[in-house]
Amino acid sequence: MSLELSVVVLAAGMGTRMKSALPKVMHKVAGKTMVNHVIDTAAKLDADKTMIVVGPDMPKLVATVAPHPTFEQTDRLGTAHAVLAAKDALAGLSGNVLVLYADSPLFTVETLERLVSAREAGDHAVAVLGFRPDDPAGYGRLVTDVTSGELLAIVEDKECDATQRAINFCNSGVMCFRAEDMLATLEAIDNANAKGEFYLTDAVAVARAKGHSCVAIEVDEEETLGVNSRAQLAVAEAIMQDRLRKAAMEGGATLIDPASVFLCADTKIGRDVIVEPNVVFGPGVTVGDNVVIKAFSHLESCNVGEAADIGPYARLRPGAEIGAGAKVGNFVEIKKAVVEDGAKVNHLSYIGDARVGAKANIGAGTITCNYDGYRKQHTDIGAGAFIGSNSALVAPVEIGDGAIVGAGSTITGKVEADALTLTRAERIEKAGWAAKFREKMRALTGKN
Ligand code: UD1
Ligand code: MG
Repeated sequence: MSLELSVVVLAAGMGTRMKSALPKVMHKVAGKTMVNHVIDTAAKLDADKTMIVVGPDMPKLVATVAPHPTFEQTDRLGTAHAVLAAKDALAGLSGNVLVLYADSPLFTVETLERLVSAREAGDHAVAVLGFRPDDPAGYGRLVTDVTSGELLAIVEDKECDATQRAINFCNSGVMCFRAEDMLATLEAIDNANAKGEFYLTDAVAVARAKGHSCVAIEVDEEETLGVNSRAQLAVAEAIMQDRLRKAAMEGGATLIDPASVFLCADTKIGRDVIVEPNVVFGPGVTVGDNVVIKAFSHLESCNVGEAADIGPYARLRPGAEIGAGAKVGNFVEIKKAVVEDGAKVNHLSYIGDARVGAKANIGAGTITCNYDGYRKQHTDIGAGAFIGSNSALVAPVEIGDGAIVGAGSTITGKVEADALTLTRAERIEKAGWAAKFREKMRALTGKN
């Protein structure tokens, strides 16, 4: 669907109930700030322009939403006043203007498209997204005409009479305006009400008084969740995780215990991937087809090639690039390193700032010593190389293709291809020494 659409995102609230130094809308759900969830939804709606209304002194928020333009609402005089902060940018727009709250990250693209379409279908001045909560207290009530179903007014909770208060059809906060007369409508809203605020919701009554029509459509309550507290943030997280898990499964991944797998909004998982219980995906992870991710693994900002085998208890940190068919086993940490196709790092290793060539085998307990306290240095391990267990590779170091490093070595510099290298103290053996030692100690201590 091609919609002529601009979006205004209200993000001016500090969110005092979050008890945070961060503006509320910068708190994350599934690894992405709430405001970016809303901006990304607008992008999926193919909005021509997305404008963010911010509060005073929120430089981090302005940076987070860049390059989208921001408009500062200096005094908090109500939702209509907030939208009018973007007044200059709203002038001259045509089509639809959708108003979204940045603290409500769960509205889906489909729902918002439905709202915009409903506005366009009847060429209404305003279309409102309504829902029916069990407890309507606190919400604006949608007053509709019983016969035509037309939206007559939105009455804020504080302004309701007894009949209106009994209505359970409520304003979710999402409203879509006909761009051409939006400004005139908003500018006609006054603040003669209980809170002394300029209510955006009064736009319905104002538009109707001018002879325009308005409409309301309904959405499931779950999508309307607004986050005001850490507890509500956790509820939003749970809903989002549920959606992401379902999407991963619909995409062809098996999640053995979906409830214990945590995904990010940008996690990409291929087909026939198996994710065992208790796996956490941080931001920026791509997993190819046929990968197995075993229990208790943690992945962030990394790519896993097809048919690779990860975990259990693997940690893939930013910049880990795991090749096709490679293995990263238990208690292995990989950071900013390429593990090429078919290479194996099966147990208890740290590989950082490195390349592990195709089909190389990294023995248990291998450590790339990449940091000297000042600089990060590179380790290059050639294709088919074999690193013996418990080796320290002190970067910068280069192990040639097919070379073998003897177990327990500390290696620096360059090792030629196909060479054997090892550093090992000479072995000493004293025949019968242990038995004599025990005899002496027994005599000395009287212990067996
Ligand atoms: C608003 C609606 C109400 C709806 C409810 C849904 C109005 C007048 N009322 O009520 O009909 O049922 O949301 O949750 O619109 N904001 C600003 N600047 C302001 C005031 C608000 O940016 O001056 C932002 C807030 O940060 C928030 C949003 O607008 O994200 C809504 O404001 P809020 O005060 O929560 O409105 P409600 O009273 O909940
Ligand atoms: Mg509210």
